Formats: sequence, C-alpha cells, structure tokens
Amino acid sequence: MSQLTQAITRAVSPAIVRCELTFVEREPIDHAIAVRQHEQYVSMLRSCGLEVLVIPSDNRFPDCCFVEDAAVVFDEVAVITRMGIASRRGEEVAIEQALSSRRPIVKMEAPATLDGGDVLCLGRKVYVGLSKRTNDEGFDLLREVLTPHDYEVKPVQVTRCLHLKSACTAVDPETILINTRWLEPEAITGVRAIPVPDDEPLAAEVLRVNGTLFMHDGFPRTRELVESLGVAVRSVDLSEFMKAEAGPTCLSLLLS
Ligand code: GLY
Repeated sequence: MSQLTQAITRAVSPAIVRCELTFVEREPIDHAIAVRQHEQYVSMLRSCGLEVLVIPSDNRFPDCCFVEDAAVVFDEVAVITRMGIASRRGEEVAIEQALSSRRPIVKMEAPATLDGGDVLCLGRKVYVGLSKRTNDEGFDLLREVLTPHDYEVKPVQVTRCLHLKSACTAVDPETILINTRWLEPEAITGVRAIPVPDDEPLAAEVLRVNGTLFMHDGFPRTRELVESLGVAVRSVDLSEFMKAEAGPTCLSLLLS
C-alpha cells in the first residue's frame, strides 16, 4: 500500500461491556476509560498526518468500534465482509457508507464469513486466517477479488487465538512480530519473524502507520525489541480494548 492518508474509526458504544469474547475471560470494561483511550488513539493517528473519520457508535453493536473486521481495504477495492459472528452483522452498513465514496465496493454474501482481523497484508502477499470467524468461502471470495489485481492470497490455519492478527502483524513488509505459541512461524513465508516475549503474548498485534509502529503501552520488552531494529514506536494505553479481545489494528481501517 502507498502512503496512508485516511483512517476510518468508530466511537465506543457503552454496550462494549457486553462485547464478544472467544478465547479470553470476561473482565469489567470501563466505558469512560475506553472512550478516553479511543480519543488518544484517534489523536495519534491524526498526529501521523491522517485525516480521521469517527463514525458515531451504535448501541445495537457492542463491538462496533472494531471497524477493522467489517471491511478489508486495498488501493484498488474494498471488500465489505460478512463477519463470522452473528451479533456483529449489521456493523458493516455504516462502514460501507463511509467507504463507498472512497473505493469500488465488493460485498461478501452468505455462506462466506470473514473478519478483517484475519487478513494480514505484506506487500502483494495477503495471508488470510481460517479461524472461528473466517471460513473457506470467505477466503475464496477474497482470493477471487484480489487475484486480478496481482495479489497472492494464501490461507493460514488459526486455532489458538481469535484472529490471525492476534498472533502476528507486520513491522514492515519483510518483518513480522509473532506469538509463536499461537502460530507456527512457518505459516508466514519469506519474512523475518520476531517472536514476542512469552510474558507479552498480546504484543504481536501492532499497527504500522507509514513509518511509525503503534502498540499498547504495556509491552516494554517488545517495544525494546522493535526499537532495536530502528523502528519508531509510539504507545497508547488500550487496556479496555485488550479486555475486549482487541488491539491497535482492530480500531481503524487505514486508506492511502
Ligand atoms: N470482541 C471482539 C470480537 O469478538 O470480535
């Protein structure tokens, strides 16, 4: 993807306290703190030069701030997903409205399911997690849409965490951070894989915005590892979203 210029985000609903959880135990989420953390996240995106759209929240959808799952955006096309859990279906309507003036749209239909959190883009290679949320039909649809645009789309089995990007994300197109307890490093080929420390298992989810890597505040050892590669890191407290089984990538859709 070329230089990023825009982000789509969505405000945090008070209903986030009832968010979906799959691999983690429920802990109380403080909505007021989540709202403040979201504002800081949006400010950080703006400080990187992005124009940030904040769509109002919708109380029917506890997970609606996790806009990443409702669409997958490329320079050439945006795919509006059919998310893999029924309670989240409907979130994508507002996301489609926001994207329709920005990209040609393809809409995923049943029986396909796919959450954007399962899609990891490394240059022209696109890895798709086959997970509790993303099925073979979702993978097939994404491959059909992207192959004519010269992307290589590959499946990865994800069984030990919610999404592929819970277990690994890009530091740059040639380097990934990975939690090797959740994903075998061999699953992603042709890259330098940096394992996160065992005591920071959630640190493999980071968000790259142009030259800067955004991560949750609580991962000092991973931060040190990444900074030793010469990468600029900015951290933000995302504690309330981590309790919702989410991280920095989940809160935005980034567009060039
Ligand atoms: N709580 C995030 C999700 O389950 O999609």
